[in-house]
Amino acid sequence: MREWIKNREMMKSHFDSSAFAEEDSDQTRGVEPPQIEIESPAGAEVIALPEPDTATLTEPGISRCILGRKSRRKYTGKSLSLKELSYMLWATQGVKKTISAYRNTGRVTLRIVPSAGARHPFETYLAVNNIAGLKPGVYRYSALNHNLVSLFPVTDLQEKLTAAAVGQSFTGDAPVVFLWACKPYLGEWRYKGESHKAMLLDAGHVCQNLYLAAESLGLGTVAIAAYSQEKVDELLKLDGNDEFVVYLAPVGKVENG
Ligand SMILES: Cc1cc2nc3c(=O)[nH]c(=O)nc-3n(C[C@H](O)[C@H](O)[C@H](O)COP(=O)(O)O)c2cc1C
Repeated sequence: MREWIKNREMMKSHFDSSAFAEEDSDQTRGVEPPQIEIESPAGAEVIALPEPDTATLTEPGISRCILGRKSRRKYTGKSLSLKELSYMLWATQGVKKTISAYRNTGRVTLRIVPSAGARHPFETYLAVNNIAGLKPGVYRYSALNHNLVSLFPVTDLQEKLTAAAVGQSFTGDAPVVFLWACKPYLGEWRYKGESHKAMLLDAGHVCQNLYLAAESLGLGTVAIAAYSQEKVDELLKLDGNDEFVVYLAPVGKVENG
């Protein structure tokens, strides 16, 4: 059997599967739920974001955004604003509500996007090249607080982004790259071996909302799954086991569609 054929089993994981039935989930065993999001490192600079302008998506009309959506890989050299960034972060991971006891799962968030069991297993990192008011470097979005945590600068960020995206230079050239890192235990705690497929499905919703939000702002994006796992995790200083990138997307201003 070809080595990769076994990946099909993960694609077929389902909830009446006997594969994991014998084993209790950590949730069933009464293990404390994992934290919703990673706390800011002590002393990290926190950048307030403008309130997302929720009228934006209604502006060009949702149908026009759905219809006009396409993958856009050519960006002008122009910077993006914090207002645009704020809107895209809200549209991809924004929290609508936190609930303190949801199906015995402790505190969970309900967000702009759906997520199996409201696990929301992602952190959003931003590799910032050219956003007005932000120093270039790596940032993490706090969805709970709707602000940005400044993590660290990166020398040769553009080159490293391009290398991480296996030579797709429009990634390094973009004013900002969204990178979604999965924390697998958030799903595993509740759904054990059935969680992995669901977490990847969750990521699709997030990126689709980025496409639509970018479209409504006159910006362009493209989903990227062709990347070097090692290089991208190293760039963000992730351990590659309890947290690793599953998807990324550069965003920039575009000439007419
Ligand atoms: C899961 C996924 C991964 C993708 N990875 C890449 C990628 O690494 N590089 C790229 O240029 N486009 C990538 N794309 C964009 C597709 O190539 C694009 O969606 C497809 O060609 C259809 O074009 P459209 O998005 O303009 O409709 C990806 C899209 C998806 C959904």
